[in-house]
Amino acid sequence: MKNITLPKITNFKKSDEYRSKIHNLIPGGAHTYSKGDDQFPTKSPAAITHAKGVYCWDLDGNKYLDTLMGLYSVSLGHAYEPVLEAVRTQLEKGVNFTRPSVIEMEMAEKFLSLVPQHDMIKFAKNGSVVTTAAVKLSRAYTGRHVVARPAEHPFYSYDDWFIGSTSCDFGIPNEIKQFTVTYKQDSLEDLERMFNEYPNQIACVISEPEKWIVLEPDFYQKAIALAHKHGALWIMDEMITGFKSDFPGSIKKFNAEPDFCTWGKGIANGFSFCALTGKKEIMEYGGIRRRGEPKVFLVSTTHGGETHGIAAAMATIDVYEKNNVIQHNHAIGDYFIRGVHEILTRRNLTEYFEITGFNWCVGLVVKNAQKEPDFFYRTLFMQEMIERGVLYQGILSPSFSHTTADIDFMLAAFDESCHVFERALESGYQNYLVGEEIKPVFRKFN
Ligand SMILES: Cc1ncc(COP(=O)(O)O)c(C=O)c1O
Repeated sequence: MKNITLPKITNFKKSDEYRSKIHNLIPGGAHTYSKGDDQFPTKSPAAITHAKGVYCWDLDGNKYLDTLMGLYSVSLGHAYEPVLEAVRTQLEKGVNFTRPSVIEMEMAEKFLSLVPQHDMIKFAKNGSVVTTAAVKLSRAYTGRHVVARPAEHPFYSYDDWFIGSTSCDFGIPNEIKQFTVTYKQDSLEDLERMFNEYPNQIACVISEPEKWIVLEPDFYQKAIALAHKHGALWIMDEMITGFKSDFPGSIKKFNAEPDFCTWGKGIANGFSFCALTGKKEIMEYGGIRRRGEPKVFLVSTTHGGETHGIAAAMATIDVYEKNNVIQHNHAIGDYFIRGVHEILTRRNLTEYFEITGFNWCVGLVVKNAQKEPDFFYRTLFMQEMIERGVLYQGILSPSFSHTTADIDFMLAAFDESCHVFERALESGYQNYLVGEEIKPVFRKFN
């Protein structure tokens, strides 16, 4: 273990003031529940003032190493200069016009060149918009209503078709809920069972291609063929995997040919740019050329073609094309995983922590004295990492700006936090955790 001096962050005065006011102004206190106060310990920053590279600063001036990087969206680094430069240039030319901007065609050609499986693309500002668009097109194309998704996967959209299938379904009519069904994420048998249970009813399957577990290399060839055999379409949601598991995403790694892919998060280095790519025959349903045929009102939003988000995505793609970003990010993930194994083995804690996921998205399960996953101990571990200058929620999403020195810093904080964790295992988390435990985002009651 390298000898690194860690900070001791204890001043959250301005954060506490912010926390006391924000819930009177914004329901949930944030614009995604994942960033909310119930996702962080009491001793934590309430809001960020600015960030650069892989570091961010809070209202009290405390500095943190960022590990989830804007919910996976910042793939190159915060305020990454080549992306900022492209955005600045675009800002000078205007951001929204009365007709499309010429950059839309440039971007369409550029992005589609990365996804040879697909012929057409539609842009949006949020991931939920493009996953819902893929579902809408699938329903129109197949004339069916039911949407299938893996039971274990957490999130595809805040729209009714998805949220109605979670425990957070308040406000969604039962009539809508019945149209979303689930299968076991890695089981072709269960997929087949589902198709047989809902014969000629399933319009599409939507799935993140890689979620915490490793699938057989031919899984998608078989799964997509099965869906097609049953008349359903396949939507591969690359929101998190895109520009992370591979470039452009898992579609390449699995040599898969889904009918659609949905993209967002890291593809514009944190700027708001998302996309739906798909096969022409189906995407054309959202076009205006099918004379006399019904028109699908696909994605139609005032800000969908906002020019600087597109410029940010183009600059991000350029960086990926000119550098081996994927290799760098995976190496950072591997370095962290090796370091964590070393710490846990040395401290005899391997049964209390579990590393999950992949080198491009490294997850951590924190357990209690009974060796069961536990939110109290998880919150305590987050609290200790934050106190040592690492804004950590149990996930490392490596970016092009993370260096091994940053990970050494993170590992030093991890090691010291383990020391507190050991003491908590002996005498109870209650003696160390300040405030409440974190809560699941998808919960029925507050
Ligand atoms: C797999 C997946 N799909 C879709 C979405 C929705 O994206 P957005 O938050 O941009 O609407 C998310 C967001 O977390 C996601 O993780």
